Amino acid sequence: MGLFCNGFSLFLIVCSMAVAASGSFYQDFDLTWGDHRAKIFNGGQLLSLSLDKVSGSGFRSKKEYLFGRIDMQLKLVAGNSAGTVTAYYLSSQGPTHDEIDFEFLGNLSGDPYILHTNVFTQGKGNREQQFYLWFDPTRNFHTYSVIWSQQHIIFLVDNIPIRVFKNGESIGVPFPKSQPMRIYSSLWNADDWATRGGLVKTDWTKAPFTAYYRNFKADACSWSSGSSSCGSRSSSSFSDRCMAY
Ligand SMILES: *[C@@H]1O[C@H](CO)[C@@H](O)[C@H](O)[C@H]1NC(C)=O
Repeated sequence: MGLFCNGFSLFLIVCSMAVAASGSFYQDFDLTWGDHRAKIFNGGQLLSLSLDKVSGSGFRSKKEYLFGRIDMQLKLVAGNSAGTVTAYYLSSQGPTHDEIDFEFLGNLSGDPYILHTNVFTQGKGNREQQFYLWFDPTRNFHTYSVIWSQQHIIFLVDNIPIRVFKNGESIGVPFPKSQPMRIYSSLWNADDWATRGGLVKTDWTKAPFTAYYRNFKADACSWSSGSSSCGSRSSSSFSDRCMAY
């Protein structure tokens, strides 16, 4: 099992299996916005994002990935989280980007979060599917995963597949397979649409709102531009050499 990435000569690209041994958030991610609202602590084992009236916050992976399995444990904003959205997604860059999204739409205390999923290919989304979770995602950490191969993208919650996006190229639907993606997450205010379609607003007296992350694992083909392990970004052979499981 796993990804088989052959060494090859023309392009200095190294496919690596970043197996288990979940490193540290310091090593794998950059805090990208929100100043002190994004934090890494417990020696790199825990990350938190928070949102207050002034700003939300976010982070992104240092590496880009092309196929593989990516796991992260999240514990979402507890209590009255109405109006807040915690987005956790993979995305490439540019106007024809690909994207694989988990978005958690907050709610009033005791009312269920919505897990909103989407897939963008070549800059086009509109493939939303929403789910109610079978547990309270604010009480404990739960694992949210993406398995991304040439054949399909599978969204999993605690190892249970909740959505499969199949490669439909044979019927003319573009599939994400050539643009490497970074992992991103952000916590932000979206009370114009998030909760009951925007009817319930964020209660700022409850701020700051905080979500937690741990146990990141990428069993994936990575390429980190600018680092010594990878060179050219332009090889189309890259995906051919990385055969997904
Ligand atoms: C919030 O709770 C209400 C009432 O149960 C529900 O209709 C709604 O779908 C829930 N989620 C969001 C994000 O609005």
